[in-house]
Amino acid sequence: GDVRLWGGRFADGPAEALERLSASVHFDWRLAPYDIAGSRAHAKVLHAAGLLTAGELEEMLAGLDRLAADVADGSFTGTVADEDVHTALERGLLERLGPELGGKLRAGRSRNDQVATLFRMYLRDHARIIGGLLADLNEALVALAEAHPDVAMPGRTHLQHAQPVLFAHHVLAHVQALSRDAERLRQWDARTAVSPYGSGALAGSSLGLDPRAVAADLGFEHGSAANSIDGTASRDFVAEFAFITAMIGVDLSRIAEEIIIWNTKEFSFVTLHDAFSTGSSIMPQKKNPDIAELARGKSGRLIGNLTGLLATLKALPLAYNRDLQEDKEPVFDSCDQLEVLLPAFTGMMATLTVNRERMAELAPAGFSLATDIAEWLVKRGVPFREAHEVAGECVKVCEAAGIELDQLTDEQFAKISPHLTPEVRTVLSVPGALAARDGRGGTAPSAVAVQLAEVRDDLARQ
Ligand code: ARG
Repeated sequence: GDVRLWGGRFADGPAEALERLSASVHFDWRLAPYDIAGSRAHAKVLHAAGLLTAGELEEMLAGLDRLAADVADGSFTGTVADEDVHTALERGLLERLGPELGGKLRAGRSRNDQVATLFRMYLRDHARIIGGLLADLNEALVALAEAHPDVAMPGRTHLQHAQPVLFAHHVLAHVQALSRDAERLRQWDARTAVSPYGSGALAGSSLGLDPRAVAADLGFEHGSAANSIDGTASRDFVAEFAFITAMIGVDLSRIAEEIIIWNTKEFSFVTLHDAFSTGSSIMPQKKNPDIAELARGKSGRLIGNLTGLLATLKALPLAYNRDLQEDKEPVFDSCDQLEVLLPAFTGMMATLTVNRERMAELAPAGFSLATDIAEWLVKRGVPFREAHEVAGECVKVCEAAGIELDQLTDEQFAKISPHLTPEVRTVLSVPGALAARDGRGGTAPSAVAVQLAEVRDDLARQ
């Protein structure tokens, strides 16, 4: 028979070309368990409003249970002719309960408020899954920092040697960014805990149903939509989710890029575990950082999902428009990509080996202690402007002579500036430079230890 929900006023069924265009069941089928949960909650408010008897409600819930089981074991699936998951499940219910009872469930709801609700439920579940995977990654990064409390490395700006920093400090910078992403997911989750069910097609329902009861039933902690038009037409929750997932991708790509560089022969800062790197089909010696490269690549795709979605939403008049069917695939994809990427990425970070000697050896190279000379002079009352000049002069002399700053003789120092007494050497060591930066957030081992404790605390509280 005709499975359409709107056959009444049409003489002809849809053209095949329309059916194929219109169908979303191949991608929205993943909403099926949520749709059934929504139906259960809806049946209960129909009963509460006197539109289903207690017996009918019981039969309805039993039918929905059977349908849920058949969906779960794959014995019931939607087809192109069903158009979407909601229509398919209505057919499934009608097949199980007959048209008399099965036909009662649709009263007071529309696919417009249904889909807006289910989509929120689905994304909220996945925000938690992704949040959990992010926490795993942060755990691995914190462990990496903890395992290397005293390893120095060249800190960079413009990818040039800038000042030595602790490796743990650098790793924790990534943890800070990822922790903000995790926080964004939690805040988004709370903001999205509002149910559009009861909004109907756009104007609400005349049947005296209680949207707040449905909201509570479906786990929406902040009740039901205050405005039925907004409930059915708004998708900023989707766009924001797409942003957060894109931001996670971008933050991962920044770590990924460093891993790729650190893993080169020229840097040799890290070695990736065999289980988390790939070989080449032609070059037997190759060991490639594919996980990091895929993270870098997928971040572009996640950004695309966000921008595509925003383009779909732009200038859409209220309320529901069919354009909104295009809202699901991009963020379903963002979930899928992160859920497959994050575990691999965590594995890569948890198993890599740090080449401490190589990092430490390069930490003072490139005159990265020049700032320490300037700040040492400042502490002796020299204006920073002059101190900067003097330290720059030291670099100039070293560069010409092909030596490092600590190789300058006492005479050379004195010639550059009378302020440069031999005591300046006390700051020309990496440990000295690190230890000096002991203010909050600095790279001194003591300051990094404080940060580590705070981060550990924060992770434990999530
Ligand atoms: N499948 C649609 C979507 O994903 C929901 C159905 C609403 N369709 C409609 N003609 N009102 O947005």
